[in-house]
Amino acid sequence: MAELAPETIERLRVAADAAATNAYAPYSGFRVGAALLFEDGTVVTGCNVENISYSLTICAERTALVRAIATEGATRKIVAVMIANLNHAASSPCGACLQMLSEFVEHDAVIWFPAANDMIQKPFHELLPYAFSNWQKE
Ligand code: THU
Repeated sequence: MAELAPETIERLRVAADAAATNAYAPYSGFRVGAALLFEDGTVVTGCNVENISYSLTICAERTALVRAIATEGATRKIVAVMIANLNHAASSPCGACLQMLSEFVEHDAVIWFPAANDMIQKPFHELLPYAFSNWQKE
């Protein structure tokens, strides 16, 4: 798993927290932010955006991902993801977000997410070990 410098972790934490303040979550009240760190050092953030249909809601991680690709293309790999939750609740990335991230993350990218009382860091491949992907061919 990639080891991040303390200042990089702090930069991601501040970015994810700031993104979470923009969450549109009138239905769940659950305000989530995500910050993606790319291999070139750039950081792209996103927040959850809910919809009255409920099922059309998009999570913070996927918002960040599609924003990054829309603005800067899909050539760079993600080396770290930081998730923030303004409700101080456990907030692991959901399966849909992990599957979408799997297309663009380094296999051992470090994923930081809030547990009930602290932050957990895990390599991506431990969170979604059997992602639907072409890794097995690599
Ligand atoms: N949510 C995220 O933003 N990321 C996740 O990985 C899990 C869930 C959001 C979606 C919804 O707006 C709220 O949290 C409650 O599920």
